[in-house]
This record gives sequence, C-alpha cells and structure tokens, in this order.
Amino acid sequence: MNPQSSVTLHTGNPMPVMGLGTWELTKNTAETVQAAFGLGYRMIDTSADYGTQPGIAEAIKRSGMDRSSVYLVAKIEETDDPYEATREYLDELQSEYADLMLIHRPPPKSAGEQLWRGLMRAKQDGLARDIGVSNYSAEQIETLIDASGEVPAVNQIEWSPFGHSEAMLKYCKERGIVIQAYSPLTRTTRLADDVLAGVASTYEKTPAQVLIRWNLERGAVPLPKANQRSHLEEDIDVFDFDMSSKDVALLTDLNERYSALGSLPYA
Ligand SMILES: NC(=O)c1ccc[n+]([C@@H]2O[C@H](COP(=O)([O-])OP(=O)(O)OC[C@H]3O[C@@H](n4cnc5c(N)ncnc54)[C@H](OP(=O)(O)O)[C@@H]3O)[C@@H](O)[C@H]2O)c1
Repeated sequence: MNPQSSVTLHTGNPMPVMGLGTWELTKNTAETVQAAFGLGYRMIDTSADYGTQPGIAEAIKRSGMDRSSVYLVAKIEETDDPYEATREYLDELQSEYADLMLIHRPPPKSAGEQLWRGLMRAKQDGLARDIGVSNYSAEQIETLIDASGEVPAVNQIEWSPFGHSEAMLKYCKERGIVIQAYSPLTRTTRLADDVLAGVASTYEKTPAQVLIRWNLERGAVPLPKANQRSHLEEDIDVFDFDMSSKDVALLTDLNERYSALGSLPYA
C-alpha cells in the first residue's frame, strides 16, 4: 500500500485509501491543498459549509494537476435541493463532476429518500461518479436501499479506536459499503492516551500516525485534516510500517464510543 493505492467501491470505481479533510482549513486553503498534492494526497474531502470549495478549485488549477488524478468528495445538506445543490457546489469546485457526492447527514424526520433520489439523478447525469451518505445508521441506509434499490458506495462517519462500531463495520462489509473515517485524529483530544503512545513507540511513529494506520489496517479510509505542513507530512507518512494484529486489536479494544463531536449518530 502507498499513498496512491485505492480501494474499490461496489460500483467498481477506485477511491484513494486516504484523503485530506478540510473542515476549518480556511486559512490559505489553496496553498495547503496544493502542498498536500505535492506530498501525494489525492483525495480531498469538502462541504459547502466548510468554505473550502473555492480554495480547492484554486489548488487544482495552481498545481496543474489533471482533474482525473484528483478525487473530490463533496456533500449536500439536508435542506438542499439535491440536484441543484450538486450543480452549485460543482460550480464552486470549478469541476464538471464530483468523484463522490454524499448526503451530509440524514434529515431529522426521515432517511432522506428524496435527497437520495436527487443524488441518483445527479449520478445518472454524470455530475457524480459515485454517491453515498454520511452520519447514517444501518437502519437509515436500509431505508434508502428499500426505497431506491441503490446501495450507497460510502458511509462517512466519525471513526477512531476510541469511537467506532463493530456492528457498523460488519454491516458495511456485508453491503459492500466503504467506511470513510472522519475526525480520525479525535480532533487531537486523545493523542496523549497511554495505550496509543505505547503502540506508537513500538513502531517509532507518532500517535497521529498510529491512528491513521489503524484505519488502513481495518479497511476504513481515513480523512485526517491538517493545516500545518509538518502535520500534512506526518499524516501521509504511514505506508512504511504494518501494525501487528495484536496491536490493532489492542487499539480496537479502546472503544468507548467516544466522539470528539459529541455523539456517534450511527451507533
Ligand atoms: N461528514 C461529517 O459530518 C464530518 C464531520 C467532521 C469532520 N469531517 C471531515 O473529516 C475531516 C477530519 O476531521 P476533523 O477535522 O474533525 O478532525 P481530525 O482530522 O481528527 O483532527 C484535526 C486536528 O488534528 C491536528 N493534526 C493533524 N495532524 C496531526 C499530527 N500529525 N499530529 C498532531 N495533530 C495533528 C490538526 O492540526 P492542524 O490543523 O493545526 O495541522 C487539527 O487540529 C474534516 O476536516 C472533514 O473533512 C466530516
């Protein structure tokens, strides 16, 4: 595995094994994303409410990268008209298509079947190569599938050793849904954990690198976010070691359904 490796979605399309998150990456977005491309990042995660779409577009332009070598993940909001919002966000991204367009979160009183149908139409019209969901429970995903016959390619959820769900992992494997792990670094809140520090020292890696590697070992796709160049470098330097199954299990056992955002809506 290396930074350009990919996982295959159930649609047959490849998706990079890790990506860069851009929430609160609003200072010098274009410079930071351009630096990330230079370091080997290929997938960029965004959302209209992060305010980073124009900066990402600028980074692609400045870097001279071919659009096909960049993987863009964007999201529609629960109050959006899904088809029109997709077009609007693609305008901000100055792109003809998103590689992956997600429903950011389910609406309060439904699974968002109407949003899902809008995304299916966007996909049919070539505005999105793949479509998926974020912050969805298994039950909510099943509701979408029952209503449409279309299985989301991805569920993007908060996911770290401190907060994850074996039931969700099993469900996604059965359905062929890839988990994208957001806040994989726990927004730094658990980097000083003793068990994590112990595993990190075994491999002469940092706690952040071990959190990212844990996701790769378990088949989830981490989306760490970093403003600082040293963090960008560190977070992608995770392909020169394998973690033993014993250490993976040690970290997996840290699960306490912890959420840096307040709750795990899927668990
Ligand atoms: N779908 C959703 O509802 C949803 C929700 C939350 C997040 N997300 C996505 O997931 C991405 C990642 O999650 P997140 O931003 O919440 O949190 P995160 O990636 O867990 O943590 C980001 C924090 O970690 C720091 N950091 C990065 N690399 C580090 C390293 N090697 N050592 C120490 N600290 C390091 C960053 O610092 P600096 O910035 O100072 O470098 C920043 O403070 C988001 O940016 C967003 O794209 C999606």
